[in-house]
Amino acid sequence: MSELDRIREEFHTRLGEAVASGSREAEEAVREVRHDFLGRQRGRLTAYLKKVKDLPEQERRTAGARANQIKQEIEGALEAAEATLARRPAADHRAIDITLPGTATRPGCVHPLAIVRREIEEIFLEMGYTVEEGPETETDFNNFTALNIPPDHPARDMQDTFYLEGGGLLRTHTSPAQIRTMMKTRPPLKIICPGRAFRRDAADATHSPIFHQVEGLAVDAGIGLADLKGTLLEMGRRLFGQRVRVRLRPSYFPFVEPGAEFDVSCFLCDGAGCRTCKRSGWIEMGGAGMVHPAVFDGVGYDSDLYTGFAFGCGIDRIAMVKFGIEDIRLLFENDLRFLEQFRGAS
Ligand code: FA5
Repeated sequence: MSELDRIREEFHTRLGEAVASGSREAEEAVREVRHDFLGRQRGRLTAYLKKVKDLPEQERRTAGARANQIKQEIEGALEAAEATLARRPAADHRAIDITLPGTATRPGCVHPLAIVRREIEEIFLEMGYTVEEGPETETDFNNFTALNIPPDHPARDMQDTFYLEGGGLLRTHTSPAQIRTMMKTRPPLKIICPGRAFRRDAADATHSPIFHQVEGLAVDAGIGLADLKGTLLEMGRRLFGQRVRVRLRPSYFPFVEPGAEFDVSCFLCDGAGCRTCKRSGWIEMGGAGMVHPAVFDGVGYDSDLYTGFAFGCGIDRIAMVKFGIEDIRLLFENDLRFLEQFRGAS
């Protein structure tokens, strides 16, 4: 038997077996047969046709003609088999065994950062705030200049920036959301803006080049530092429990005056000092202060009439102390074994 005849015979045997198999497998099996005989890489007839061109002239003609004839026959048989299978009624399909156990689906759970963000949003929505969203790519003006940090101001070095081609940058904090909101809204206003921020900080257990902050801003006539402290206390207590206290430590941010960093007393040791608060009794939350009049002047608010407070804190750090997470990088690795521990925590 010539090689061509063997290919032809084997093809018909294989096709017969393929069509006879269970319906869902049959389609797959026929595809497989097509591959094995006509496939560009491993097709047996294709390989034969490639060899034909090296035969002596006379042989080449007859073998070539016969091979093409068989190729047409194979193609026709494959098409007919495919059409028959496609027409098979659903009832013919493999019987469903209802006694087999179902495929288990793993329900998702809320990411710890989302749990904290939602909790903060809820706290402030209840206090009459609205939630604003600013873009992650910002202008130098909104991220720095409008926040009283002009070019060449040394405070720019406080936040190592990712600059983009074409002049933009990745926002280094959520504070530019203050500017965007004030540019489009007249006072009074109360907003929070949760979102991602970016800094060229080397990653370690407490720093990540991508992290999350929530910005808060309240502007009205007669707002004072006590309003800021009361608001931060409410946030602290709702997040960590009614016993926590808040303290403000004088600090410098060019867009607030006076400026402060704020801490909450450690909810685990009640201020006595433990591992979570690094024995200090206090947990650092972020920066805050009274909006600098220069910022109001820049957005066209009357700084003689209006005062306001602003604060910004790190959501990742809050999630870490709240859930006892020792390394910030765990929040970004999406390891399901880690994330599944927060099932039910929201
Ligand atoms: C700011 O970003 C100011 N915009 C906060 C502010 C807003 C002050 C309004 C006054 C008024 P600071 O650079 O300290 O401040 O960052 C605030 C918080 O962001 C930090 O306390 C920390 O929790 C978090 N943070 C900053 N850098 C990182 C980082 N690389 N990884 C994780 N968290 C970070």
